[in-house]
Amino acid sequence: MLGPYELTGPVALAPMAGITDAPFRLLCRRFGASIAATEMVIADTQLWTSRKSRPRLYLADDPEPRVVQIAGSEPRQMAAAARAAIDQGAQVIDINMGCPAKKVCRKLAGSALLKNEQQVENILHAVVSAVDAPVTLKMRTGWDPGNRNGVRIAKLAESIGIRGLAVHGRTRACKFRGPVEYETIRNIKSEVGIPVFANGDIVTPAQARSVLDFTRADGVMLGRVAQGQPWIFQEVAGFLQKKCVQPLSIRARRDIILAHLESMYELYGEYRGIRVARKHLGWYCQHLAGAKEFLSLALRVECSSEQIKITKKFFDRLCIDTEATEKHLTPGEPGTWCEQQEKRQPQNRQNLQNRHRLFRSETGRSET
Ligand SMILES: Cc1cc2nc3c(=O)[nH]c(=O)nc-3n(C[C@H](O)[C@H](O)[C@H](O)COP(=O)(O)O)c2cc1C
Repeated sequence: MLGPYELTGPVALAPMAGITDAPFRLLCRRFGASIAATEMVIADTQLWTSRKSRPRLYLADDPEPRVVQIAGSEPRQMAAAARAAIDQGAQVIDINMGCPAKKVCRKLAGSALLKNEQQVENILHAVVSAVDAPVTLKMRTGWDPGNRNGVRIAKLAESIGIRGLAVHGRTRACKFRGPVEYETIRNIKSEVGIPVFANGDIVTPAQARSVLDFTRADGVMLGRVAQGQPWIFQEVAGFLQKKCVQPLSIRARRDIILAHLESMYELYGEYRGIRVARKHLGWYCQHLAGAKEFLSLALRVECSSEQIKITKKFFDRLCIDTEATEKHLTPGEPGTWCEQQEKRQPQNRQNLQNRHRLFRSETGRSET
């Protein structure tokens, strides 16, 4: 439970700036993500009408509970942002103290706040008392390996009235490097009574299971692994319920991808929609052999109908070429599919590294 909301399962989508927009959230929710916050919105509400921020606050299609994540460092501004988000339809406010992006930390927001526990307390108090809705906190394990104050922050948050935590098991200084400290997540979980979602480098259903077993967390939160495979939620949630879920056919994927493209054009308009769609097409294709030529075309087109046309053509071809192979993926033999998931693990790791590279080359900055 998250306040009055009963979550449908233990697998959440991690907020990711530039990725978890309304169309992507809806997709992930349909595939079994039980909760999906918006990408973070900066607490300065004057910026909310900007061309960039407006789509970030589009909540009309989100299933309940609708969650808006806010980032900032001024308690009064954060409180005002929480109220404004509620006015826009949010049912849960998530506070970002997990993002180590320089742009965010320079303003002493995001994970930079973890360094200043008094300020954390002020912000949490301000936001919790500003709204009737449940407030959750997305945090890291501390500021740096010498200052792992995650347990203290989590206890403080609970005492102030925070209703749930998502913990990325790394310190701010570790960014995305090094192993995830599931141990610290376990310590946090053992010290608080509110729901805790474990986050960081979870890329397969079996890994989700072992993270839950080890940390005793209430759920897992998946981020980068969902890029290009929103159906991962169905796979992970199914595995956790001990169901063997049949992988989606390439035909089903094609239809999902085409519908996803349409919803991006609808939200962003033609010009920006095509550009946002390019990113997702890159992710959708990273698992697919022979996509290089298609992608080089898809990344150049300037017209949505053309982008749809070449995408459909590529996936139609793929359907014909791969259907025979897909027949082998039926879950008839016990454990077959689950084993396949495990075999995918090294591939998933490689994909994560590729995503880091793509992010860096696209933005010119290190990934959060
Ligand atoms: C491109 C990108 C953008 C992100 N943006 C946010 C954000 O807006 N808010 C936030 O709390 N965390 C953000 N994160 C961190 C993720 O929510 C998550 O904690 C992190 O990716 C670790 O989970 P993963 O290993 O499953 O990806 C972002 C991560 C990435 C890769």
